[in-house]
Amino acid sequence: MSLARIHNFSISLDGFATGEPQTAETPFGHAGQRLHQWMFATRFWDAGGTTGVDDAFAQRHSQGLGAEIMGANKFGPPGWHDDPDWKGWWGPNPPFHIPTFVLTHRPRASMEMEGGTTFHFLDATPAEALRTAREAAGGQDVRIGGGPTVVRDFLAAGLVDHMHVVQVPVVLGRGVRLWDGLESLEDTYDIEAVSSPSGVTHLTFTRKASS
Ligand SMILES: NC(=O)c1ccc[n+]([C@@H]2O[C@H](COP(=O)([O-])OP(=O)(O)OC[C@H]3O[C@@H](n4cnc5c(N)ncnc54)[C@H](OP(=O)(O)O)[C@@H]3O)[C@@H](O)[C@H]2O)c1
Repeated sequence: MSLARIHNFSISLDGFATGEPQTAETPFGHAGQRLHQWMFATRFWDAGGTTGVDDAFAQRHSQGLGAEIMGANKFGPPGWHDDPDWKGWWGPNPPFHIPTFVLTHRPRASMEMEGGTTFHFLDATPAEALRTAREAAGGQDVRIGGGPTVVRDFLAAGLVDHMHVVQVPVVLGRGVRLWDGLESLEDTYDIEAVSSPSGVTHLTFTRKASS
């Protein structure tokens, strides 16, 4: 069965998955790169990187995936909808290499990029978007790639089978929170935690068999 999975989703101690404001120069606002330093240090990201617990978790991000769904604010900074040439932050060969569905209220024509990534733009409910992505995934899993608004919406709709959250030891104080409105989420998931010497805590949420 094709699962809906979230990986390497990094939040501050106070639950923010991005800072503010998001601009073309600062995709994560005042958070800068602090939420993902743990990942940049791994072999998953850099051939000379670490191979310990952080790398073991990070590598799962790309395994067994056939499609991704992301939000409009992950795809671009405010105003990208008005720029017909905007093709995402990642250059001509984005690091997805799978069909990637961008949820937006202002969809545009699909864009085929180098390396197997095609961006498709969808104005759809989370359930409809997941159905469409699953068809494109050819039996493999679908990654819900963020940002926090989209992750929260998919969790609230009960559509997420597995989630890996990385709690990073910084306090952001402002930004976009992951957990708002998700009261009692723990009733739906078996939750495990692994502390890393790097200072981050890996949390895995696996849907309970009864849910
Ligand atoms: N911490 C992490 O690991 C991580 C991971 C990924 C991204 N990020 C960061 O998260 C930030 C973006 O997160 P965010 O919460 O602001 O936004 P987001 O989740 O990326 O996107 C939300 C936007 O997507 C569109 N959208 C969402 N659901 C939709 C639906 N069902 N139908 C149609 N459109 C829909 C709407 O935009 P429109 O109405 O404008 O079209 C909505 O405002 C960025 O800073 C990014 O860098 C962090």
